[in-house]
Amino acid sequence: MSNHEEFYDNPDIRAKYIARRTQPDNPNDTLERPIFLELVGNLSQLDIIDLGCGDASFGKEALLQGASSYIGIEASSAMVNLALVQLTNTLGKVHHGRLETWKAQSEQVDLVSSRLALQYVENLEPVFCEAYQALRPGGRMIFSVEHPVITSNFASLAEGRRTNWLVDDYFKPGARVHQWLGHEVTKYHRTLEEYFDLITMTGFKLERIRESRPLPQNFSSQQEYERRLRIPLFLFISAHKSIHASPARDRT
Ligand SMILES: C[S@@+](CC[C@H](N)C(=O)[O-])C[C@H]1O[C@@H](n2cnc3c(N)ncnc32)[C@H](O)[C@@H]1O
Repeated sequence: MSNHEEFYDNPDIRAKYIARRTQPDNPNDTLERPIFLELVGNLSQLDIIDLGCGDASFGKEALLQGASSYIGIEASSAMVNLALVQLTNTLGKVHHGRLETWKAQSEQVDLVSSRLALQYVENLEPVFCEAYQALRPGGRMIFSVEHPVITSNFASLAEGRRTNWLVDDYFKPGARVHQWLGHEVTKYHRTLEEYFDLITMTGFKLERIRESRPLPQNFSSQQEYERRLRIPLFLFISAHKSIHASPARDRT
């Protein structure tokens, strides 16, 4: 199985994925969430599009914090159903579709977010162009992805719980097929330089690059904290559309 939609639509995989997300000291809660929320800052009165929103828990949180609107874009129908439940009785919406075919409305939002979804997309250039189009001048794009040192090579994952990490084939971009949650999945490796070029060539101004440096207060286990000091699991990029960006192109 190599298609991401089939991947997250598979009930066995989804059950394992959700179980991992609720484990104590899981990487999403200890590493990804604190840094992502720090980067986005105050969400009050923001219009938000979230690419690869999964169950839209970020949408629920953002709306509770006073975001004006939230639209999640999600390819997996099972994830869309979870998102709809999550967003019941809120202003949040979910669009069922692939990022590759998503067409943004011009200057629609203040924040385009994406959390751990973009490494599933083979060609990011059109997605970044749509994100740029969707943003109002001064708006931000903030995303997390699996770190390039992780996506370069998944051989050490085959051993189960990793005690070492092989970084290899770093400068060979492209598909990495590997076993995850007991099934085959395809992710796309890019170097840090390629992420930087994608951002700046789209027209964004780079603001911050962060890596998932662990903080001890986010862990209940000292051992797990020390394990996470060994290698960055996630990369975060924050960029903005210039306040002086030229008017949106004619989309008719
Ligand atoms: C690891 S999950 C993260 C979900 C959510 N962003 C979060 O952090 O909880 C990745 C999500 O991206 C979605 N996804 C992957 N590739 C996609 C694509 N090409 N278009 C839309 N959604 C995609 C998957 O279906 C899945 O729900």
